[in-house]
Amino acid sequence: MLIRILGSGAGGGFPQWNCNCRNCSEVRRTNHPSFKVLTQSSVAASIDGTDWMLLNATPDLRQQIMAAPALAPANGHLRASPVKVVVLTNGDIDHIGGLLTLRESQPFTIYATERVLDVLRSNSVFDILAPHIVDRIPLELDTPTKLMDHGKDLGCTVEAFDVKGKIALYLEDQSAGPTFGTQVGDTIGLKVSDPKTGTAFFYIPGCADVDEPLRQRLKGAPLVFFDGTLYTDDEMIRQGLLDKCGSRMGHISMSGPDGSVSAFNELGVKRKIYVHINNSNPVLNADSQERGAVEAAGWEIGYDGMEVQL
Ligand code: MLT
Ligand code: MN
Ligand code: ZN
Repeated sequence: MLIRILGSGAGGGFPQWNCNCRNCSEVRRTNHPSFKVLTQSSVAASIDGTDWMLLNATPDLRQQIMAAPALAPANGHLRASPVKVVVLTNGDIDHIGGLLTLRESQPFTIYATERVLDVLRSNSVFDILAPHIVDRIPLELDTPTKLMDHGKDLGCTVEAFDVKGKIALYLEDQSAGPTFGTQVGDTIGLKVSDPKTGTAFFYIPGCADVDEPLRQRLKGAPLVFFDGTLYTDDEMIRQGLLDKCGSRMGHISMSGPDGSVSAFNELGVKRKIYVHINNSNPVLNADSQERGAVEAAGWEIGYDGMEVQL
């Protein structure tokens, strides 16, 4: 299986258009060699190197496709795309905005939970992906689903599972108490498997807690891409960027006793790569002490164009 990180930044990317935090201003001003510019969070995967799935579709998708030779239309076809399937993990803008880039009467298939398909259904702008051209298939949780595009088998399965998280930011119901109206299916993780080789990887760009069911699921996994939004829960508040902590945004932090570094310590995951990294996160600076700490714990910092073969 071939996997390419199209973008490893969180919503807004790095640098974010309106942000002058230390990281953003540093990378914008100096093109500092210790930083990598990041587009928003998405991964592409393929069994055969010809047909590809996208895990989330970001507002940066056009740029991400242009940077990935394997995603260009194959020679000899006037209109075509190797992108056959898009799987969505939630309804936030950074994960669905790129669907609008995929207009142009190109057939493909969208997989998402009914909760996220509801978001597409209730926003008529997505009807530009006309139902007779672009299939929308509901993902059942905890059930391996064979990925198909208009009768074509992509040769792999995806299993969606609920993770602790939050309803999309623009759908938060302030009257619904501390959950803001979050329901099962609003935020999922994905296990992508190649049944021929038996390999699999996990893609979990948004997750508020590594709870016991998730621990059991991830134990011994060969490869996990995981939510690396923040280093500390209150870093956006401390930097004066936003009056919200990570847990309020549905994102676990890397550090601390309840953080992801600690949670993964005993899981025996062979390769663990942070994605969906927010521009406020000090690990974006390759020279930082925080970067050293997560790397010492066996983590890699995902970057745009990073490729992994399983
Ligand atoms: C998030 O991951 O919290 C979202 O991308 C926030 C947003 O939509 O801006
Ligand atoms: Mn996001
Ligand atoms: Zn910033």
